Amino acid sequence: MRIGVLTGGGDCPGLNAVIRAVVIAGDRLHADETVGYLDGWRGVMERRSVPLEPGRVEDLLTRGGTILGSSRTNPFAGDDGPRLVVDHLAADGVDALVAIGGDDTLGVAQRLGPLGVRAVGVPKTIDNDLSGTEVTFGFHTAVETATEAIDRLQTTAESHHRVMVCEVMGRHVGWIATYAGIAGGADEILVPEVPFEVAEVCERISQRHERGHYSSVVVVSEGALPAPGPDLESAKAATTSRVVDQFGHVQLGGIGAWLATEIERRTGYESRHTTLGHIQRGGTPTAYDRVLATRFGVEAVAAVHDGAFGKMVALQAGRIVRVPLEEAVGRPKSLDLELLTEVAAPFFG
Ligand code: F6P
Repeated sequence: MRIGVLTGGGDCPGLNAVIRAVVIAGDRLHADETVGYLDGWRGVMERRSVPLEPGRVEDLLTRGGTILGSSRTNPFAGDDGPRLVVDHLAADGVDALVAIGGDDTLGVAQRLGPLGVRAVGVPKTIDNDLSGTEVTFGFHTAVETATEAIDRLQTTAESHHRVMVCEVMGRHVGWIATYAGIAGGADEILVPEVPFEVAEVCERISQRHERGHYSSVVVVSEGALPAPGPDLESAKAATTSRVVDQFGHVQLGGIGAWLATEIERRTGYESRHTTLGHIQRGGTPTAYDRVLATRFGVEAVAAVHDGAFGKMVALQAGRIVRVPLEEAVGRPKSLDLELLTEVAAPFFG
């Protein structure tokens, strides 16, 4: 078979490991040929691709990012996009497509199914917000990076008796904030799923400092916001960007800076912020993500050969399974709130 592969959305540690697995498993197990489309769906629309032979990918296991490039191009944003995708895949003789991406990229794959595009999805995102799978590759690496940063912030917080606010990624969900916050011993974890009261955060920090702890570390997801009221308006004014991608997502960032200013103003404790940003998305994948990415890639090829189109490979109870794409896209996988209330919260204050 001739398999097309593309990577869409934000880059993520493990993308190259999936590409390597698809190419090598396809070649060795089925004598497939693989072609890589450049820059996500944009490359298919513009008919830009490269042949991917095993020799081209064998060294990719540890390399961060994606050798194919990525974009947030949405073929459904214009009238011609879907037709271009269908025509170019046919012109290139592509029998099946492996789409590696998050909600947006896989949502496009699902919508293209009825137009005749035979696609299998592979779940990618550091945010870990895709439904249908317990975990996406890239999440583990992002948590490791964020945890290391929090460890470092803890020592500066202690040395200078400061409140350190660490903003991590997580547009809709607080998986990174919660895992890294628990692992790094954070004193507050604020997530998009639970609007927060600034006054309560400040009160807990003040009580903690009065009890003799002269430093605090607050971890906040980029998508977290205060509960409705004047604080929400103020936080939105400080964080809302005009940059919107083709899937309608506004560029996030700034809640950590806003919160540090508010904490210092209301408590009198010196407060600083750090935004980890793309540091969480770059670099080599952890061993866990290398293994998960490889398992996903091998299974995606098996799914193609079984004709399991319209499916996404997924991890459930430790096993790799296939779930319908429509189960995976459309509604983010929210945080298991017990992690916050039962596991993280007892250590706050
Ligand atoms: O890939 C998901 C994500 O990491 C979000 O957490 C974040 O809001 C977004 O990507 C940032 O994307 P970009 O690099 O395109 O600004």
